[in-house]
Amino acid sequence: MVRTKILGTGSYLPSESLSNDDLVAKLGIDTSDSWIVERTGIRSRRRAAPGEATSDMAAHAARAALESAGVKADEIDLLIVGTVTPDMQFPSAAVLVQAKIGAKKAFAFDVGAACAGSLYALSIADQYIRSGSARRVLVIGAELLTRIADWTDRASCVLFGDAAGAMVLGPEPRDDRGILSTHLHSDGTMAGILCLPGGGSLKPFSQEVLDQREMFIRMNGREVYKFAVRALEAVCREALSANGLNTNDVDHVLAHQANLRILEAVMKRLEIPLSKCQINIDQVGNTSSASMPLTLDQANRAGNLRDGQLVLMMAIGGGMTWGSALMRWSV
Ligand code: ACO
Repeated sequence: MVRTKILGTGSYLPSESLSNDDLVAKLGIDTSDSWIVERTGIRSRRRAAPGEATSDMAAHAARAALESAGVKADEIDLLIVGTVTPDMQFPSAAVLVQAKIGAKKAFAFDVGAACAGSLYALSIADQYIRSGSARRVLVIGAELLTRIADWTDRASCVLFGDAAGAMVLGPEPRDDRGILSTHLHSDGTMAGILCLPGGGSLKPFSQEVLDQREMFIRMNGREVYKFAVRALEAVCREALSANGLNTNDVDHVLAHQANLRILEAVMKRLEIPLSKCQINIDQVGNTSSASMPLTLDQANRAGNLRDGQLVLMMAIGGGMTWGSALMRWSV
């Protein structure tokens, strides 16, 4: 049986770092370091430079992942970008990345699953590789959330940061290594708790959209929190039980960094020590679909992932969309 293996990882963080104190001093937000740290675990986040677009960040991460995999851009068959902040409505960020890195052979598209975008993309890549339809797939999560955050809404804007993460995937010959399963879910009845209402076909850009600030993220933080904790616990248990494994078997958890409190609550419910969860939200904030591949790249480059270890991935985002992936790390 062919499984999918991660051949290499890469990531990119813009150079400007904004601490919680910077949000107060430079951006004039009525907040404090202690409020943000206590509620979210975030201490700083990165912000892209003016003129820097999502596809630029994605291309940086992609080049790093290709180099780490020892794969050339023109060997890529399929290129998927998880993003809700493409450079423009269309064409996709993926085709712009394709042009920037020279992945001439690839077909390319974006996946819109908000913060779960790169996990959705990983699952799609896994299907293509296991079916033999693609040999080399580039999965990228790239997000420029600081441009769609409402900087007058202190309950949400303090959460977000900009980043990109990437992974190159290919076939794993060993039966007991690689991606064991992916499980994806959606619940469109919860669309209203986390969305960006303006600028689409329902409410095209207009003075009213601008006046109502509907071109920015709207979030019901408490509802997101409750939904996320329940859904993530369930989808992680689903992944483990589908493979006849339990939480004690997990060596590493690589999670979308939505909020430290959400991660703590999920890990507690799963009875997996928090020390097994790679955490970077304190430094980069919530980077949506970039979060999981960025976290993966940091764990990989730190040498934390060993051959045969069980890695549990999880993500949740607006939609609501969520999922998990379970893999035996392969080197
Ligand atoms: N600084 C200071 N005070 C603030 C801030 C801030 N940044 N934001 C809100 N407050 C105040 C409010 O004005 C309110 O004050 P009041 O009681 O005087 O009216 C008080 O704090 C409580 O406000 P809430 O909006 O109810 O804040 P809550 O306790 O729910 O915390 C938070 C907000 C941190 C967002 C929380 O709801 C949460 O953790 N939600 C999870 C959402 C999340 O993590 N989303 C990530 C994006 S989604 C994803 O990635 C899947």
